[in-house]
Amino acid sequence: MVRAALLPAVGEPLRLTEIVLPEPGPGKVRVKLAAAGVCHSDLSLTTGVLRPTTPVILGHEGAGTVVSVGEGVTGVRPGDPVVLNWAPACGRCHLCGLGEPWLCENQYAASVETYAALPDGTGLYPGLGAAAFAEETVVNENAVIPLPEGVPLTSAAVLGCAVLTGYGAVHNAARVRAGESVVVFGLGGVGLAVLQAARIAGAAPIIAVDVSPEKEELALRHGATAFVVADEQTPKAVRRLTDGNGADHAFECVGRGSTIRAAWSSTRRGGRTTVVGIGGKDDLVSFSALEVFHFARTLTACCYGNSDPVKDIPVLAEHVRAGRLDLEALITDRITLDGIPDAFLRMASGQGGRSLVVF
Ligand code: APR
Ligand code: ZN
Repeated sequence: MVRAALLPAVGEPLRLTEIVLPEPGPGKVRVKLAAAGVCHSDLSLTTGVLRPTTPVILGHEGAGTVVSVGEGVTGVRPGDPVVLNWAPACGRCHLCGLGEPWLCENQYAASVETYAALPDGTGLYPGLGAAAFAEETVVNENAVIPLPEGVPLTSAAVLGCAVLTGYGAVHNAARVRAGESVVVFGLGGVGLAVLQAARIAGAAPIIAVDVSPEKEELALRHGATAFVVADEQTPKAVRRLTDGNGADHAFECVGRGSTIRAAWSSTRRGGRTTVVGIGGKDDLVSFSALEVFHFARTLTACCYGNSDPVKDIPVLAEHVRAGRLDLEALITDRITLDGIPDAFLRMASGQGGRSLVVF
């Protein structure tokens, strides 16, 4: 039995409980978590903005050590340090074939099959296939990425979502070049990772926007060159900070229609907005037909930073070793499993960076 944070149903509070984990079957890997980050997507899965199959163990940003492997697993061995991949690619579907594994048609397959149980036998589903809010988990082999040397196992957890997503948004999706201007909306774990990635790309200026004025210091520490408190005038403020032009690139890391619209309006004619946040299905964004033509901007989303974790985790590890990527700076609160509800409250009130459950 291992301890885990259970979401019985959407809208209910998390409950700490013991769960029964099976030994890993064919193709499965059992992992002892070192740490798991609390992402806004976990909050969205509890509130119903996103809808998990329940009862579910959430947590999709994690790192740990392989405990045991099932039949046929060749990629990792017991004792190996790994990062969890919440969007593992099958390698066989149409979109994997096109070289876009972040859009794999089967990436959520694991989350709709039970993987563990309560002591009374009730089946449990793994949130995003990972179920990292637990001392141990069992995942498919393609959901573990070997952690390269030189990256501390605990802080490596944030590579698994915030950093793969934020770095990938900048380098894989938007392909920001040195000297281009960037504006980032929303400075949680994801937005802060975007700031660091923009700094690595050599972007300038790097404008950070958040509704919470408390985020200024954190933003500057992650590479922002200017900070703006979000209001209706934000696009104007961004134009002022970019010689009247608007930014070459905007990144939306909130997950709301209104911030997608503000991000789009903050870019120059021909600029590019990359939506990283995940919003609700009834939250609409609108553009007039004329402005779509006139501004000739690009609006695009990215999924998991358009990353292929197999290729990108080693790149991120190299940035960490070289001192360009600061994982520790992202982590502002170290908590235990029972601290997740408070971490959700901090998120909802715009405080801090990433909260990390340390086991
Ligand atoms: N304008 C600017 N910033 C805003 C606004 C707004 N209108 N509303 C909220 N924010 C800020 C919050 O103050 C907070 O700093 O957005 C930030 C969101 O941070 P987190 O809640 O920590 O979210 P994070 O885990 O970074 O995820 C961001 O990416 O993966 C998705 O589902 C995730 O949509 C979410 C987004
Ligand atoms: Zn996440």
